[in-house]
Amino acid sequence: MTSRFPRLIAHRCGGALAPENTLAGLRAAADFGYHGVEFDVMLSADGTPILIHDETLERTTNGRGRVAETSDAELARLDAGSWHGAQFAGEPVPTFGDAAESCLALGLWANVEIKPSRGHEAATGRKVALAARDLWQGMPPPLLSSFSIEALTAARAAVPGLPRGLLVVAPPKGWLGTCRRLECISLHCSRRYFSPQLLDEARAADIPLLLYTVNDPLDAAQLLRQGVAAVFTDRIDLISERVP
Ligand code: G3P
Ligand code: MG
Repeated sequence: MTSRFPRLIAHRCGGALAPENTLAGLRAAADFGYHGVEFDVMLSADGTPILIHDETLERTTNGRGRVAETSDAELARLDAGSWHGAQFAGEPVPTFGDAAESCLALGLWANVEIKPSRGHEAATGRKVALAARDLWQGMPPPLLSSFSIEALTAARAAVPGLPRGLLVVAPPKGWLGTCRRLECISLHCSRRYFSPQLLDEARAADIPLLLYTVNDPLDAAQLLRQGVAAVFTDRIDLISERVP
């Protein structure tokens, strides 16, 4: 079951090596030999899926205000790179379509985290699933995941055949039941809440366990050796397949 995922997944496209959720990040992941990336997808005011983590623009762009209230035309004018470093000035906020195209061109497997703005859970789940189906048509599909049960439910209803992962911080007692109900094939949880018991439960249920965010190479190696299916990392410069 674990072989379907790259064991190392660059968090928010390129981890710490590039501005998060950008095409520059995807290029960084590929440059560092990564085969898998994770990124966050939210809807603009026009209903276009775009890559961004926060519900507001301030932290990662030179814009202001709520993503859900910002048009595609306004988003297209933003700089999502300068906050990370002058060499990334002018890096755009990518559309999901742009990111998919880059992933396919670079040979990157993707975990698409559906990251809805509050109140837009179902619409985001549905839109992202439909877009993913079309963007990866004829190719091995990305893995959709979300903290939002509503978004996962809508994604399943829209495109039942796309793989889904249940994303949590700390796995609640009934995580397996939720996985089964939503027909999720994987469990993604915070490394802080990892335990050998959780791994045993996941293994017994044949559910790959993916942990975020693991930035220590030895920790990553130990977790993978124990049977964790994959780790999400910001340190794509330190953690590689060569790490024992
Ligand atoms: O999908 C794993 C991880 O990205 C979840 O946390 O806040 O970085 O999106 P966050
Ligand atoms: Mg994420």
